[in-house]
Amino acid sequence: MTAPSNREELKKRREKYVVPGVKQLYSDPPQIVKGKGQFLYDETGREYLDMFAGIVTVSVGHCHPKITQRTIDQLQQLQHTSTVFMTQPMVDLAEKLAEISPGDLSKSFITNSGTEANEAAIRTARIASGRHEVIALEHSYHGESHLASTLTANHNWRPEIMPAAGVVFAANAYCYRCPFKKTPDNCSLECAKDVERVIQTQTSGKPAAMIAEPIQGVGGAITPPDDYFKEVKRILENYGVLFIADEVQTGFGRTGKHMFGISNWGVQPDIMTMAKGLGNGLPIGAMITRPEVADKAQKQQINTFGGNPVSSATAVAVIETILEEKLMDNACVVGEYLLAGLKDLQKSFPIMADVRGKGLMLGVELADEKKVPLTAETAKIVEMAKDNGVIIGKGGLWGSVIRIKPPLSITKENVDTCLKVLRKSLEVVSKVAVG
Ligand SMILES: Cc1ncc(COP(=O)(O)O)c(C=O)c1O
Repeated sequence: MTAPSNREELKKRREKYVVPGVKQLYSDPPQIVKGKGQFLYDETGREYLDMFAGIVTVSVGHCHPKITQRTIDQLQQLQHTSTVFMTQPMVDLAEKLAEISPGDLSKSFITNSGTEANEAAIRTARIASGRHEVIALEHSYHGESHLASTLTANHNWRPEIMPAAGVVFAANAYCYRCPFKKTPDNCSLECAKDVERVIQTQTSGKPAAMIAEPIQGVGGAITPPDDYFKEVKRILENYGVLFIADEVQTGFGRTGKHMFGISNWGVQPDIMTMAKGLGNGLPIGAMITRPEVADKAQKQQINTFGGNPVSSATAVAVIETILEEKLMDNACVVGEYLLAGLKDLQKSFPIMADVRGKGLMLGVELADEKKVPLTAETAKIVEMAKDNGVIIGKGGLWGSVIRIKPPLSITKENVDTCLKVLRKSLEVVSKVAVG
């Protein structure tokens, strides 16, 4: 193991050798050298409670012993062949994904990332339907490639290049900032109905697919109302449009009650994409669909590292661990405890304008009494929390949402620590924000 570099030197080398778009969360970043369970450690040995899980990825805790061992065993046995050779781990993983996915989703294409999974999903939907156009939602994030960044409506993550053709956007279900100026008690799901308006006014009337995150992650834990996806699916079925649920953040028990986020809305997607929590940190992604959809795409396809034995064996171990350690139950219980704690904190700090999410995918939007986003204050809270030993994320179109998405294994005691540190940061920031 190489000895950690000097923090300042590392920062300078990073600036010199890594492209500038790869930004850091902190203005004064620690050098992270070790992870264990829900904790990270910097080069001085300082411990941090990780409430962001490497951007919603370390689902079962850092360096989980069983999973690490499975990775090492596979690494020592066989690392790579590519998909043109027959190996067992990829098949084991595909079978496992079929077992845990809703309905008849049972044929997978394994990738290295969420971006690639979304690329594969759109490609499959286009081939299967013989159509081209795709609907995505405002405030969405779907990845980094040309197509995935075109599907991304959040302008902070869209490069200034000619977008891919055939992508249109519907209003999203953002109740705190309802695009139709309604409130949950006087709305009739105008956001869901907007999908029909978009099909009729911005497409040929025959789009291939619609892609949506059940809870928008980068968008800031934006959580649609209970009947939203049912109404959307009804509209899509009327027009013969395939529904792709992007489960890159909401998958693998993150929302507590269900293995996949979309099941919270009682809706069956035609295609699902996943990544992040599936590998607990190892690069992996997947697209899964129904046999009738998959079987329409018979032309050969490959992803050199997709389905490689090491990532696949690791992912199987991750799924087994989520089930064996009953981490979804934990996400429900501890998630509700955290949500209640945040709502309690909200009573003392009016800048916590909206507290939302499900399970252990929660967000707190900071805004003033006129709903002006408190961007600088959010960044300050995130930085102060780190200085006080707790790692939380930030997101949303204006960078004004605190994102809390820890490993599913955290305890109520960890939540108490997080809330205490949040309170401390909010006390400082609220004084400045409120005057
Ligand atoms: C919902 C969603 N989809 C897709 C992606 C892209 O995944 P990756 O970064 O693995 O390519 C992300 C990444 O944050 C995401 O949050």
